[in-house]
Amino acid sequence: GASQVVRVAAAGEKVKLKAAMNHLAIINATKDQGVSIAVDKDGLIAAVGLDKEVEAQFPDAVWETVVNARKRSVVPGLVDAHTHPVWAGDRVHEFAMKLAGASYMEVHDAGGGINFTVEHTRAATEDDLLKLLLPRLQRMTRAGTTLVECKSGYGLDVQTEVKMLRVLEKARPHANLTISSTFCGAHSVPRDLTAEEATRLVIEEQLPAVKAGIVAGELQVDSIDVFCEQGVFDVDQSRRILEAGHREGLMINFHAEELHRLNAAEMGASLGAEAMSHLEKISEEGIAAMARAGTVGILLPTTAHILRLKPPPARAMIDGGVPVALGTDFNPNAFCLSMPVVMHLACVILKMSLNEALTAATLHAAHALRKAHSHGSIEPGKVADLVIVDEPRWEHLVYQLGGADQAISHVIKAGRVV
Ligand code: NIG
Ligand code: FE
Repeated sequence: GASQVVRVAAAGEKVKLKAAMNHLAIINATKDQGVSIAVDKDGLIAAVGLDKEVEAQFPDAVWETVVNARKRSVVPGLVDAHTHPVWAGDRVHEFAMKLAGASYMEVHDAGGGINFTVEHTRAATEDDLLKLLLPRLQRMTRAGTTLVECKSGYGLDVQTEVKMLRVLEKARPHANLTISSTFCGAHSVPRDLTAEEATRLVIEEQLPAVKAGIVAGELQVDSIDVFCEQGVFDVDQSRRILEAGHREGLMINFHAEELHRLNAAEMGASLGAEAMSHLEKISEEGIAAMARAGTVGILLPTTAHILRLKPPPARAMIDGGVPVALGTDFNPNAFCLSMPVVMHLACVILKMSLNEALTAATLHAAHALRKAHSHGSIEPGKVADLVIVDEPRWEHLVYQLGGADQAISHVIKAGRVV
């Protein structure tokens, strides 16, 4: 009996990834009928429509759990396309340094940043890391996330990178969300190596160890990532790492054009990358190359907000035909677990519309992870991942800044309230 169900993709339509970002397929309640979503015993969506239409499709059904969504609205489960959730050693002390004017790279070069977290993550046991990870995933779930991309990258050595990926595997059965996991051994150059040495370490030692874990059925890794940035991995080193990962069957999904314009977007597009993140400094040519390649741009408004960067050109990217997705970028620099907060920032800072923000946080984010066939919209046959907003209009999810817990009445993962 919901007041409003936002399906995101239009009824019966194939997933539309470009111009359709601002278009939502919304079913509104009528004077005498609400909107229903039927879920089958496998947790898949069976039907969506006005109450009587849905009931008529299943005259013999025995309805088990019914969540009453009267005076509420329903949107697809949120998809967080970029996070770094496995680590020990927060960097709350660096927050004050940054507020006082230190840049991200100044903190990094002073021995802080990623390498600080690496020391603590190397020292932590698998159990320590799992204990830190699970409540973070739980907080994401409470804020409506049902599918999340999770990166390694605070090990930078073979053992710790594999340890982080194993922690993600251990989390799967406990987490109420689906995890897409990414190997990011090239997240930073370890203190004792040059970037060239680190590139070889990633390609010749870390990647084969990850591959062995996959072959042995111990790891399920979907993508490869690298921090392509001035003073970290240059475009050529990044390309070699990404190609090596791609040869092992991983999707390409990496950090590009964040602090300096290196034309990494063009490089990624030439490799047919599935996705690139950040893109604050992308050029017009980079946007055109991504649009041609169909590469998803994952925008992370928390980073620009916290580091006081010029935000990524979301409008130019959307208008230029790039499918835009959103992520929290949760990490010790950007401590945000909430996609509704990210959607709010996307609207206010990146000048995206509410409809675009919802598409970017659901269907397009699922497509960035190549899971749009099964996730990201309310369509029969897809997994029943749903967020019930405690208001008749779904926009409350974004409008109530930081109020995700109040605006969401239920999160449903594969048909079950979690
Ligand atoms: O996406 N830019 C590189 N990686 C992260 C930051 C990680 C960290 O600072 O620990 C990002 O913002
Ligand atoms: Fe990141």
